[in-house]
Amino acid sequence: MDKIIIVGGKKLHGDVRISGAKNAALPIMVSALLTPGVSTFHNIPDLVDIKTIKKLLRNLGAKIEGDSTVKINTENINNCEAPYELVKTMRASVLVLGPLVARMGAARVSLPGGCAIGARPVNLHIKALQDMGAEVELKDGYVEAKAARLKGTTIYFDISTVTGTENIMMAACLAEGTTFLQNAAKEPEVVNLADVLNSMGAKITGAGTDIITIDGVDQLHPVEASVIPDRIEAGTFMIAAGITGGDVRILGCDPSHLDALILKLRDAGMEITMIDGGVRAVARKKIKSVDIKTLPYPGFPTDLQAQIMALMTVASGLSVITETIFENRFMHVSELMRMGADILIHGNSAMVKGIPKLKGAQVMATDLRASASLILAGLAAEGTTELSRVYHIDRGYERIEKKLSPLGADIKRVS
Ligand code: EPZ
Repeated sequence: MDKIIIVGGKKLHGDVRISGAKNAALPIMVSALLTPGVSTFHNIPDLVDIKTIKKLLRNLGAKIEGDSTVKINTENINNCEAPYELVKTMRASVLVLGPLVARMGAARVSLPGGCAIGARPVNLHIKALQDMGAEVELKDGYVEAKAARLKGTTIYFDISTVTGTENIMMAACLAEGTTFLQNAAKEPEVVNLADVLNSMGAKITGAGTDIITIDGVDQLHPVEASVIPDRIEAGTFMIAAGITGGDVRILGCDPSHLDALILKLRDAGMEITMIDGGVRAVARKKIKSVDIKTLPYPGFPTDLQAQIMALMTVASGLSVITETIFENRFMHVSELMRMGADILIHGNSAMVKGIPKLKGAQVMATDLRASASLILAGLAAEGTTELSRVYHIDRGYERIEKKLSPLGADIKRVS
């Protein structure tokens, strides 16, 4: 089991390049299932979750080669089952459900099971497929769905669900008639997927708004496309500049995907400026406390909540951080408190009272973004921080220590 060791107190300076977005790459790679042929996707990040989705697609019969550019040959999809042992390691595997029903007329996908940050059911994915005429049964922990051809209809999502929107948008591309997704997710990753599907011959309008319209077509064709930069990785590095009092240029990111974070970091006293091809994040003054409430895009992203909490633990005041998306996304709190943070949880809010300095400690990663939060805290803490269970971090960040070291961080990975 790898560990990451950080000696804190170093200001970060220099340039860091942002990788392709994990949460765009996953649905885009799955979209290749919708048509036979060879699709090519660029700017794919080197992450454990990408390895997992490749395994899952190969398990369905796809042939895949390449890493940052992948070629996916879906000529011979000969299996419609996503097995538990794969799905339990990555809930985003549920994204194959819609495309398999649309392309093959059937799918047997394991229910994802529990997850550290919440129950994360997929009931909205299932209901939408049923609304489109699929016969869906839950048997032995699997979702079994079949439909000769899905029928376009109006779908209302009780909750704006990112992968639910993506799953059904993909399925609707090949349905008979028009589908309207009401209360659709508006994340940039949904827009990236819709653009890729349209270049495959789909007829989608409204992606990025609350209502997405999909006119079903009889078939799609393979495509070559690129994945957008990872806004969560970019935001994590902006916060790294803030928590170390540094000056970092975050290159290859799209600042228009991060308005909520950028405005909050400016309120906290950071200088965030747009530069050619990215953003420059500078913290010259003591960070001030700001209040945060996570919301669906364009609200403050839940995937940056743990990271900005780390920043608030050493800010100059009281910050109230409210998590509205997931029911259990405060597992980083107890670990931050072991580093001296002064945090009180009250329901789905955490009151974070800033302290002058965190102290390095042995801490444990519990989920992907909590791990990032603890690395940020370690960068700022006095002394040494030892982070265990780093496999969590490798799911969503490309060798994070390799990107932090050139910026001046004293960080290393030990097995
Ligand atoms: C996506 O997860 C992201 N994952 C998550 O990123 C992200 O935190 C989340 O969206 C919210 O932005 C990928 O895109 C692969 P949701 P997803 O469906 O789609 C409830 C990371 O760190 N819900 O938008 O699974 C659900 O419980 C990961 O990269 C239902 O109740 O999230 C949650 O409370 C973590 N029923 C809320 O909706 C459903 O059928 C939003 O979940 C579906 C969702």
